[in-house]
Amino acid sequence: MRRYFIKTFGCQMNVNDSEILAGILEDNGYALAEVPQKADIILVNTCSIRQKAEDRAYTFLRELKKLKKTNPDLIIGICGCVPQREKENIVKQLPFVDLVMGPQCVDDFSNILQEIEPNKETQFYIEEKGRPRKIHPTKRAKSPRAYINIMYGCNNYCSYCIVPYVRGREVFRPSKDIMEEIKKLDKSIHKEVILLGQNVNSWSEGDKTFSDLLREVHKAPGVEWISFMTSHPKDMTDEIIETVAKLPKLNNHIHLPVQSGSTKIMKAMNRKYDRDYYLKLIEKIYKKIPEATVTSDIIVGFPGETGKDFKDSLSMIRQANFDSVITAAYSIRPGTKAAAMKGQIETSVKKERLQKIMQVVQDVAYQKNQKLVGKTMDLLVEGPAQKGKLSGRTRGSKIVYFDGSKNLICQIIPMKITSAKSWVLEGQRT
Ligand code: SAH
Ligand code: SF4
Ligand code: F3S
Repeated sequence: MRRYFIKTFGCQMNVNDSEILAGILEDNGYALAEVPQKADIILVNTCSIRQKAEDRAYTFLRELKKLKKTNPDLIIGICGCVPQREKENIVKQLPFVDLVMGPQCVDDFSNILQEIEPNKETQFYIEEKGRPRKIHPTKRAKSPRAYINIMYGCNNYCSYCIVPYVRGREVFRPSKDIMEEIKKLDKSIHKEVILLGQNVNSWSEGDKTFSDLLREVHKAPGVEWISFMTSHPKDMTDEIIETVAKLPKLNNHIHLPVQSGSTKIMKAMNRKYDRDYYLKLIEKIYKKIPEATVTSDIIVGFPGETGKDFKDSLSMIRQANFDSVITAAYSIRPGTKAAAMKGQIETSVKKERLQKIMQVVQDVAYQKNQKLVGKTMDLLVEGPAQKGKLSGRTRGSKIVYFDGSKNLICQIIPMKITSAKSWVLEGQRT
């Protein structure tokens, strides 16, 4: 039997695309290989968001080259955002690759698979125009959380970001396909549906808004919890906040990337809001959803970021009382507006700021988690954790470790929180 191996870098869009690629491979008679050494086809699904992400993919791919010595018929494919950015140039760096495929061609993979052969010239499948994925025989992870894409691409052109260039303009998946895919989920495993997109709040279909879609998903039989990611602050309407507050299956986790705490930098980033707007939005969220978990993304060392601008980001974390923040040092992405901006910040300064901001994030998360100790809350059990414990997530997406038997996996159970650190809570079954 022919075997496949897929390595995935990057965001949930890539995770979901890899699930589709795996499903198509299995539909064509391939079985999963535990290690790349045992595979007949290896796909590397890459991310371009920062230089480091690209470097990791190149390192992984270069390591694969030697496998062709022991298995000359091995097919190596590079997929995802790096080939979409590099196009044909990619073979200059990776001449041994058989297949180069951009994210827009995932839908065609079944046909592509028939066309690719080992030891031929590199085959290219790269399209510019985005289109919503069709429904495929997706091979989902045995996780109680199922990712469902509702939109692809992005129109926002934040000045630092490569996504609009590699994923194309926004396209929305039809609600019929979204509902059909949700209907097909094995509800004995998948208890939570996570609606995905770079900017989910902008989803629409005729007169239907994102809030209408949330109401429709809420009616789907068998779905117990619903979450969504990522929200853009400029598109986070009162209606969405109220819908989350009102509908019982909607989780109270809002991921709302702020990117910087300084109005000047927000403007240079082309985020289309300012500090005041963002803080008012946060206030509204906590007012309507008092138990809300609010998480964010912040970039440090964006061109022109002064010590004062950086301090504004630190104070934003405390004022917004974020449960967690994904922090990153600004990375120049060729072709984006910010790459050509004056005032690029030295690497050493970026590193120093990153250390400082991570400390503040950890500190605020720790304080916020202490308030949960002693409370009892629902937990969706995900799988084994360290030291024989099990791990699950609260409706606010907090990770909880506890003692319990494996038959609790994929169940929702009440849990008493007994202690809390910054990133993990401990709990006891009640
Ligand atoms: N659509 C989402 C997130 C997209 S990318 C949003 O609008 O927020 C995920 C995160 O990567 C971004 O939120 C940003 O914080 C980070 N990021 C994007 N480009 C970056 C760059 N050039 N350097 C460093 N971090 C970057
Ligand atoms: Fe990138 Fe901005 Fe689009 Fe998010 S909203 S994907 S950060 S351009
Ligand atoms: Fe990376 Fe592409 Fe996602 S650049 S963050 S994998 S959309």
